Amino acid sequence: MDKKEQVAEEAINYIAQGNVVGLGSGTTASQFIKALGKSSLRSKIVGVATSISSDRLAREVGIKTVDIDSVDWIDVTVDGADEVDKDLNILKGGGGQLTREKKVRNKSKSYIVIISDDKLVGRIMDRFPLPVEVLPFGQKTTMKELEAIGMTCQLRGGFITDNGNLVCDCKPLEKFDLQELDQRIKSITGVVETGLFLGGKKKILVSNGEMVTVLG
Ligand code: A5P
Repeated sequence: MDKKEQVAEEAINYIAQGNVVGLGSGTTASQFIKALGKSSLRSKIVGVATSISSDRLAREVGIKTVDIDSVDWIDVTVDGADEVDKDLNILKGGGGQLTREKKVRNKSKSYIVIISDDKLVGRIMDRFPLPVEVLPFGQKTTMKELEAIGMTCQLRGGFITDNGNLVCDCKPLEKFDLQELDQRIKSITGVVETGLFLGGKKKILVSNGEMVTVLG
């Protein structure tokens, strides 16, 4: 079975009737939205989407979506990830929707991350750079400031986030502590958010194509 499909279907078991469900972004989260649309829970839950495209997909498959500000909390969010390390630190934002994804996660009582086993890494940023959402205003200055704290920084060409901002893909030049790095990046004016999803309670569902393992 396709790994993304398998782990997406498994995540349906974490949803209950009456839930407000955070709907992630990306190809794996899209599989989850489709699976939820096919399940009997479809008309018994409401979704809060993490991107315009996830919102559109949810509506297409018959899931009612509501604005994040119209709910007091989200019961459970299911989202994908680009990398997960052994301490369950998460790198997200390959699709550029990191800020909405984090806002939805922060309002969620339960956070489920669904990945295929190739997303497990020894160290965050082993494979992918760190996406950082920045304001278009002063973007070059912001990038210089990111470089000044010891990062290489590449503007994601031709990409604008759902919030009308830009994304820089960054890599630290030296060894780093993830929490400290995150704080240093976020202290730069013009930085909106980073793709580091650290701390917090979560469950990581990992598919190897044969079975799904639960971490956390
Ligand atoms: C979207 O901005 C991302 O955070 C995705 O959740 C992440 O890139 C995983 O995407 P895939 O499931 O497509 O690999």
